[in-house]
Formats: sequence, C-alpha cells, structure tokens
Amino acid sequence: MDSIEKAMLGRIRSSDGASVISPSPPPSVAAAAATADVIERTAGLAAAPSGVTVAKPAAVRKRTQRSVTLDLEGIQAAGMLVPDTRRSRIKEEYRHIKRPLLMNIDGKGAITPEHPNLIMVTSARPGEGKTFTACNLALSIATERDRTVLLVDADVVKPSVARVLGFEAEVGLVDFLIDDRLDLADVLVDTNVPSLTLLPAGGRHHLSTELLASENMRRLALEMSRRYPDRIVIFDSPPLLVTTEASVLASLMGQVVMVVESQRTHQNQVKEALALLDPQQIVGFVLNKARDSFGSDYYGYGYGYRYGYGSGDRGAAEQ
Ligand SMILES: Nc1ncnc2c1ncn2[C@@H]1O[C@H](COP(=O)(O)OP(=O)(O)O)[C@@H](O)[C@H]1O
Ligand SMILES: [Mg+2]
Repeated sequence: MDSIEKAMLGRIRSSDGASVISPSPPPSVAAAAATADVIERTAGLAAAPSGVTVAKPAAVRKRTQRSVTLDLEGIQAAGMLVPDTRRSRIKEEYRHIKRPLLMNIDGKGAITPEHPNLIMVTSARPGEGKTFTACNLALSIATERDRTVLLVDADVVKPSVARVLGFEAEVGLVDFLIDDRLDLADVLVDTNVPSLTLLPAGGRHHLSTELLASENMRRLALEMSRRYPDRIVIFDSPPLLVTTEASVLASLMGQVVMVVESQRTHQNQVKEALALLDPQQIVGFVLNKARDSFGSDYYGYGYGYRYGYGSGDRGAAEQ
C-alpha cells in the first residue's frame, strides 16, 4: 500500500476539522509492540535480533546524519542558551520557564496530566518565537542532571530547528510517519550535548501537516510517553491559528507551552488559539521578546499558567 495512503487511513480528524478529537481505538497490540521495539532499540535498551537485516530506503543512507556536533559558540552568539556552567540571564529565565513543566512531570504540580513528559511549544501565529523557545527549553532541560531530552521539529511545513541549531537533516519525522521501513533510530540525531537528541522534521510533502493528526503520530507520541517517562519530548509545532492539525497534535500532549509575542500577539489571537485546545489542557505561557523596564533589552520572559481554561475562577492566565 502506498505509504501516504497508509498514513491517511489512520488519520484522526474531527468532522469539522477543528479541535475536537474523537476518541480513537487503542493501537493494536502488534502495532504498539512494533513501535515499542523501535523505540527500545533506539534508546539502546535492547539489541536488534542478530541475523535480521532491515532494508533501509536509499534516502536515509544518503541524507541522514546520525549525530551532529552542534556549534555551541554559534548558538550562543545567536542569543540562545548553551549548556555550560556559566551563568547568564537567558539561563535564569529558562530556569523559571522549565520549573513548572518539570514539576508537572514529577507529579508535583497542581494537576497531573496524562503524558506530562510530552510538551508542545506552540503559538497563535508564525514568527512569535516557538522555535526559539523550543530550542532554548530543550537546551535548558538537557543541562539538568538525570533528564534526557528529545527535541522534535513538528513544524513540518516550516521546519527550522535544524537551521537554528546549525545542522542539515532532510530525513525525519515526516519520513518516519509515512514509511514503515524506517526505524525511529534512522531519523534521530544525537548531539554533542549528551542528553539532547533531535528529531528533525524531515522531507517536505503536501500531506505533511495531515500526518501530525495521523494514527501513526498518535501511536508514536503514546509510546514516547509510556515507555520512557523520564525522557522529556519537546515538540516545536505549527501555529495553532494557521494549521488545524496543530490542535490535534496538542491533544496528544501532556503540557502545552503557548508563546505570546510581547507587543505583537493580540489578546484575541491568544483567546482564539486557546479555544482550539482541550479545556482541560495544561497551558503555560511564555511572554517572548518582552523588553525590560529600561526598554533596552530585547529578551525577557514572563510565565503564567492556565489550568482548565474556561473553568471559572481558574480560567485566567496569571502573569
Ligand atoms: N526572545 C527572542 N530574542 C531574540 N530573538 C528572538 C526571540 N524570539 C524569537 N526571536 C527571533 O524571531 C524570529 C522568529 O522566531 P521563531 O522562533 O522562528 O518563530 P516561530 O517558530 O514562532 O515562527 C527568529 O528570527 C528568532 O530568532
Ligand atoms: Mg518555528
């Protein structure tokens, strides 16, 4: 069967294509076991059976770098956080941003979501700082002892994690979702930051966004969460108001980080974006590109939380 057709068959969509997700049946035991096996092998927890040869598409051999050395000086020069021992303002800011996320993962938050280690970084519109935030968050969490991070570029229409972190990878999430022959290991990229692994967006395809709402995506997310709860998976995602599939992806997540661009994102856009999420979804807000009171600093973050949007007195985001 054509692989796109295969992916589309498992697609989850509400009848109006918006935010309501119909409950889908649990993955078949065989399918779940297959995914689990893939992830297990990827994580180096189980050896592939000897004598078994897995056919790899030529594209993988040609184009995937299995590990990259990130240019940490370049990343720092671009204003981002790097995992070293030096103190910096951005590290301090991301310490505040990640703390509630980690508390929820550790079950110490006000609410324990179902898959707390799956975190989606999104926003209402393009250009508000999702990728910047997702990369910094991943780098920040990777500096924590005993935490491992997988940063997934799920903005499959406008992928930019690889560009921002300075490496090339044309094979990734999209390819994994449409091609049964691929193991997750084929598309993951290890880095010189020991606890940081990357899953690039992969090849472009006219059905890329639909794949985010596919059954294969749901299965992948579930397995990522269930089998390795100590691995934190951060999804850089498409904007909620541009792509309906972004809200489907959000429904798979334990936590959502909503980036709001200071002075630019309109309150109505934030409201519209929030309305696309499940009312029970835990949403943290990052106020991005806020200037400090002297007006001199481009960087700066606020952080607020919404638990159970629309549930009366707890519905408002705190700042
Ligand atoms: N806090 C920030 N400080 C400096 N530059 C930022 C900040 N947030 C975003 N940018 C820059 O703004 C542009 C858009 O950000 P990006 O993360 O690509 O947005 P999105 O992923 O939401 O489309 C990029 O050039 C990025 O480097
Ligand atoms: Mg982006």
